[in-house]
Amino acid sequence: MKNLLITGGSGFIGSHLCLILLKNNYSLYVLDSFINSSYEALNRVKALAKFDKKNIDNNLKVFVGDMRDKKTIDNVFRFAYENNKRIDGVIHLASLKSVKESIEKPIDYWGNNIISTLNLVEIMIKYNCFNIVFSSSASIYQKDQKFVNEESFINPLHPYAETKVIIEKLLKSIFNAYQGKWKIVNLRYFNPIGAHSSGQLGEDPKGDPNNIFPRIIKVASGEIKKLYIFGNDWPTRDGSGIRDYIHVMDLAEGHLKALEYLNLIEPKILNINLGTGIGTTVIELVRVFEKVNNVKIPIAYEKRRNGDVSELVADISLAKSLINFFPSRSIQDMCKDGWKWYLNNPEGYENN
Ligand code: NAD
Ligand code: UFG
Repeated sequence: MKNLLITGGSGFIGSHLCLILLKNNYSLYVLDSFINSSYEALNRVKALAKFDKKNIDNNLKVFVGDMRDKKTIDNVFRFAYENNKRIDGVIHLASLKSVKESIEKPIDYWGNNIISTLNLVEIMIKYNCFNIVFSSSASIYQKDQKFVNEESFINPLHPYAETKVIIEKLLKSIFNAYQGKWKIVNLRYFNPIGAHSSGQLGEDPKGDPNNIFPRIIKVASGEIKKLYIFGNDWPTRDGSGIRDYIHVMDLAEGHLKALEYLNLIEPKILNINLGTGIGTTVIELVRVFEKVNNVKIPIAYEKRRNGDVSELVADISLAKSLINFFPSRSIQDMCKDGWKWYLNNPEGYENN
């Protein structure tokens, strides 16, 4: 598998992933509507890959289009076919991803995430491409489990997570229907944060972000006055919620490992958690951010946020044993790299 379609490749995770894949000599077709990303992210990916002396001009082709339109996807596969560089695998990241927005605008979420994926698998079958890595989410797990493995109970609580569960089911049913053809990996991401260590790639959320890391950055930069911590009465070591934060570059490298594994195996479908297996409280994250970056983050406590859980940490035994996934970057690295990205790009990709 050397020629890959990366859907959503200009997004936060996709841009870091594209860089790693280019450095590992994959040839990429990126398809993105840019609804939540900027073309500049891919310019940066190209510059970083070139800096690494990779000849990327023939290895990164970008298509702009919305996957809800089947023809858009067909065009990419046809282009690859006609140019004798057929797509032999897909990493499917394209999705809307805000929990809050999915509750407010369920039709957008169901429409975008499900129709895009249905179209994608239909076109993959048309072009005899049966290898897919899908971006799933830890948000699908039932909320009263602390340390989750891939067999833990699934109970999505909002439309965003529901779309992930339905897509996993869709992939399972096509796996069953086309016996002996598909290789499918659902990667269930925990909490990706941080940025590329160059400070050239990072998270550039549109609108008002609700996640903890972009909010810490907003406080550190003085854009907002205080970080509101949702609950100081959770049954944890300091009363704030515990999550499994993973450096976005480690997460991206997990995809490389998953591809290498897919190359070795017979058709199969499986789910793999991508986290670090280490839990960090909100207060610990804030203190590390302050220390490594020498900034102050004023905090205040708010009541618990609806739908939150005390603790969600990955059991990554399967990722370690099956795909040789050993994330190496620390919370300190995540905080340093995320802040460096901000300092280099206070307006995100906007000013380019
Ligand atoms: P992102 O929003 O930065 O990237 C998603 C990309 O998909 C964007 O570039 C967007 O423009 C594109 N896109 C969306 N709908 C599209 C469509 N219909 N056609 C073409 N392109 C479309 O998000 P991200 O953080 O990079 O997340 C990537 C994937 O990982 C998503 O599937 C997300 O659900 C999943 N995930 C993310 C997190 C997280 O915390 N970031 C956690 C778990 C799972
Ligand atoms: N938090 C605060 N204040 C804030 C924002 C968050 O205290 O302003 C706390 C939350 O209560 C929680 C922790 O920080 O304890 C992390 O919250 P995030 O919103 O950053 O992340 P979640 O774990 O709630 O969810 C995220 C993504 C989902 C994804 C999931 C995977 O939003 O899309 O991680 O585990 F699926």
